[in-house]
Amino acid sequence: MPNEYPKSVFKLVIDAVLGMVDVRVGVIGLGVMGWRIARNLRDDGLLVGVYNRTVDKAVRFGREFGVEVFQSPAKLAGAVDVVVTMLSDDDAVRSVIAGNDGVLSGLRSGSLVIDMSTISPTVSVELANMVRSRGGNMVDAPVIGTSVAVERRELVVLVGGSEEAFNRAREVLRHTARTIIHVGPNGYGLYAKLINNALLGSYVVALAEVVQLGKAFGLSDSVILEVLTKLSSARSPTSELKVPKMLSGDYSVQFALKHMRKDLDIVNREASARGVPIPMASLALQFYRMAERLGLSEEDFAAVLKVLLR
Ligand SMILES: NC(=O)c1ccc[n+]([C@@H]2O[C@H](COP(=O)([O-])OP(=O)(O)OC[C@H]3O[C@@H](n4cnc5c(N)ncnc54)[C@H](OP(=O)(O)O)[C@@H]3O)[C@@H](O)[C@H]2O)c1
Repeated sequence: MPNEYPKSVFKLVIDAVLGMVDVRVGVIGLGVMGWRIARNLRDDGLLVGVYNRTVDKAVRFGREFGVEVFQSPAKLAGAVDVVVTMLSDDDAVRSVIAGNDGVLSGLRSGSLVIDMSTISPTVSVELANMVRSRGGNMVDAPVIGTSVAVERRELVVLVGGSEEAFNRAREVLRHTARTIIHVGPNGYGLYAKLINNALLGSYVVALAEVVQLGKAFGLSDSVILEVLTKLSSARSPTSELKVPKMLSGDYSVQFALKHMRKDLDIVNREASARGVPIPMASLALQFYRMAERLGLSEEDFAAVLKVLLR
């Protein structure tokens, strides 16, 4: 019964007795991550409504979970205290926040924008300044963890912004994350996220390479799986998630390949701007670019293995 009792009656009574008023939250972007984040907030009684570029998706969410579907980011921003955005890339976040009928046109003074997307830190700081000039505040709050982590409420969130904005953001983020860290001022959550994804992108190309090597050596799938996910000193949560996908050929999306290419592009730009050599991440980027040319953008990024099969 999805539309009933998003919050327990008991909790409502306790909140009323203690005089606590929950913050009103709106979510923009109902993709793989945003849909589940919105659902957690709805289940805990904080979600007022949603907006998504593809309207059908928002309507489906609204119907399934009994929340309002807003016609524009501006209308959503005008009805809530906290706007959460979880969108693909720089262009998406820029247009949702600063475009026509964007968040900025409807933002209430004192509102908080929590952008959980992985985008360029430079763009994020620019948008945070615009939000501030309208009397609001913004944090970058990119995440480590897949949709599975959102469902388990185990995300890691790396927050950039003022101390005060971080404290407010944490009260919303704790409904979907286990670890929430204040990294520094605006942009720094994203810098922290980028070093993670530089490593992750390189690591998954290396995993693909050794899975293929193991097969060429004539090792059985079960031995490859055992070594890379259980016995190896280089095993990790990522080898546990991705090696089974590589062995089975099931590239259903946990994290889309186009997003990893996008993240490594940002890493590359930010490193180049500082003259920092990043040979591993640069090489990995070329693999994801080749994978995109093979038409693998929408598959899980573990599908980068297919480049090695060519
Ligand atoms: N999936 C993961 O495991 C994971 C993990 C960590 C971080 N991230 C990061 O989290 C962000 C979201 O990831 P995701 O996997 O949820 O992505 P996704 O499933 O591709 O969803 C992207 C969302 O952005 C919207 N969007 C794209 N372009 C837009 C535009 N120009 N204007 C307005 N809306 C636009 C999409 O709307 P439509 O429905 O209209 O297309 C959709 O709601 C990305 O930055 C990604 O790098 C993802």
